[in-house]
Amino acid sequence: MKQRPLIGVFDSGVGGLTVLAELLRQVPNADYVYFGDTARLPYGSKSAATVAKYAIGAAHYLEQQGIDFLVIGCNTACAQAYDSVRAAVKTPMIGVIEPGAEAAAGVSRKKDVIVLATEGTVNSHAYRKALEARGIKAEEKACPLFVPLVEEGWGEHSVTEQVAHIYLDDLFKGAADVMVLGCTHYPLLRPLLRRITPERIQIIDSAESTARKVAEALPHAASGGVSAPDVRFFATDSVEKFRRAGEKFLGQRIVDVTHVDLES
Ligand code: DGL
Repeated sequence: MKQRPLIGVFDSGVGGLTVLAELLRQVPNADYVYFGDTARLPYGSKSAATVAKYAIGAAHYLEQQGIDFLVIGCNTACAQAYDSVRAAVKTPMIGVIEPGAEAAAGVSRKKDVIVLATEGTVNSHAYRKALEARGIKAEEKACPLFVPLVEEGWGEHSVTEQVAHIYLDDLFKGAADVMVLGCTHYPLLRPLLRRITPERIQIIDSAESTARKVAEALPHAASGGVSAPDVRFFATDSVEKFRRAGEKFLGQRIVDVTHVDLES
């Protein structure tokens, strides 16, 4: 492994930029290529076979860019296609689910955890399996309206708060003391979710936990670098749309975006 690795991150769209933002914070002595499959999102409502096909395409594209390490930034792709991607690439890789589950298991005293995710992630029960393997009971909840609400920029809207109450209030009656944000978009709802979630429940963001794992896997890259990371972006739909939507998720300006057509 090089001293300053090139790390590839892929997601169904701009959501995985929340994972990239954490990587840039925790693993700054690295360069990055980010692939957003904006032409084919959302992955959250698609079949496992379709998601696996798309995820392998994205991973191969990033391998062609010469990456040293691969991060599946999309929870749905990780839940439904981790093993398929693992079998299809040669690059060392990590997904978001194991780190999220490990972090949740590490802090849950009650051994009882709530997981919020897309329908696809919930249907795969990937989080439940990862938590049960650690002796933790998991209640998974699909929150399909959260992704479009976040994309609409309604992270603090009263409608989003109402939707969150409808999804979550019953879950809060249980014994869980940890709630995992198991979707790339949910960190943008964190302030709202924190407000409506009982204080006894700790919120874990799988993006943060994943970046911590990458820092452990690439210790040289985790200490401050001599120069800022070079980040290149690839998107399968409009470059302009990616730039505009992406800046909200990344929290910084996006300049270098290239259009990619994986179908051709
Ligand atoms: N990136 C997806 C995830 O983390 C959410 C958006 C989608 O459904 O494609 O599950």
